[in-house]
Amino acid sequence: MSFLAESLSRIKPSATIAVSDKARELKAAGRDVISLGAGEPDFDTPDNIKEAAIRAIQAGATKYTNVDGTPDLKAAIVDKFERENGLGYAPEQVIVGTGGKQVLYNALMATINPGDEVIIPAPYWVSYPDMVLLAGGTPVVVSATAENGFRLSAADLEAAITPRTKWLIFNSPSNPSGAAYSREQLKALCDVLLRHPQVWVMTDDMYEHIVYDDFAFTTPAQVEPGLYERTLTVNGVSKAYCMTGWRIGYAGGPVQLIKAMAKLQSQSTSNPSSVSQAAAVEALNGPQDFIARHNAVFKERRDLVVSMLNQASGIDCLTPEGAFYVYPSCAGCIGKSTPDGVRIDSDLDFVTALLESEGVAVVHGEAFGLTPHFRISYATATEALEEAGQRIQRFCAGLS
Ligand SMILES: Cc1ncc(COP(=O)(O)O)c(C=O)c1O
Repeated sequence: MSFLAESLSRIKPSATIAVSDKARELKAAGRDVISLGAGEPDFDTPDNIKEAAIRAIQAGATKYTNVDGTPDLKAAIVDKFERENGLGYAPEQVIVGTGGKQVLYNALMATINPGDEVIIPAPYWVSYPDMVLLAGGTPVVVSATAENGFRLSAADLEAAITPRTKWLIFNSPSNPSGAAYSREQLKALCDVLLRHPQVWVMTDDMYEHIVYDDFAFTTPAQVEPGLYERTLTVNGVSKAYCMTGWRIGYAGGPVQLIKAMAKLQSQSTSNPSSVSQAAAVEALNGPQDFIARHNAVFKERRDLVVSMLNQASGIDCLTPEGAFYVYPSCAGCIGKSTPDGVRIDSDLDFVTALLESEGVAVVHGEAFGLTPHFRISYATATEALEEAGQRIQRFCAGLS
């Protein structure tokens, strides 16, 4: 019998982290590598947020806090939900965790029993299915293809629901596709869910603020108040506030669920970092103007990357509404070979050959559950994106 837990055999390490590691390794060995694998903004945390953390340290906010978050941060989150989403959550309906990742993980661990099904539209964020598997549940993956703008259709959602369905995990704007749902598109999904009272919604709103072209973000409990009692609204400061390393995420939801998540957290990590919580208060309550400035840069980069990809032979790329990813199809390259005779039979072959021959690191679509695609993160310097676009075009032109 193996010493390791059986549950671990059900999951694999994060593919996106693996790509970043591989790119770092090649760089350390002296290769000229452009890494478009990482899912984090290249902007630094704004100074007012850093200063709030320094003040917190100097004021002695260096002790354990309440397991589910400081009263100050919970108050800031309550205000944020009200101000930005029109959602009324009391402090006891809010939990703070060590990143949105822990909040999502705890929610699944606190609710999933063996045999419970969780609907996950693909392409999905890499961690959802593995978290469900770790919790002992069954991921039910439903394709949301490029033809439908990478959005789950109401009919496909309806068809995937069974009496064992416990959650729909919803993510808009999406990692990895950048696709976001308009209010009408989201309402159509909510209408399906209204007919199935056993299904709860875990909405991952991590990219709420990173949207372009006047796109209006909405979240399920706001669009359909009838779902409020069975929605967990998850968010965090990692992306919009450039705070990936600070590890603060949070959620609002029904008291009973929030309490269960806090119980789990009390026996695992306890409170998130006290200093990071102080910084997150400033992020949520302080000036928000840098978000629009960052988005203007991201939008320029998105347009550049989409245009360069669509000029590459065999690549087809939609223009996403948000986040900082594109999810092009490489279907036109499948079946071809590189000048060295390496055959491209899958998106994994495509990204491996691209990294080997041109030093561009991207993540293969299989990791996100929809093939043949790959994900590019354009949260990197514009010059690097231009160079990467040229290398991808050259690589594709060389396939035959
Ligand atoms: C869709 C999505 N959800 C959740 C997370 C987790 O973010 P964090 O744990 O940094 O708050 C990420 C990070 O990449 C993400 O892309």
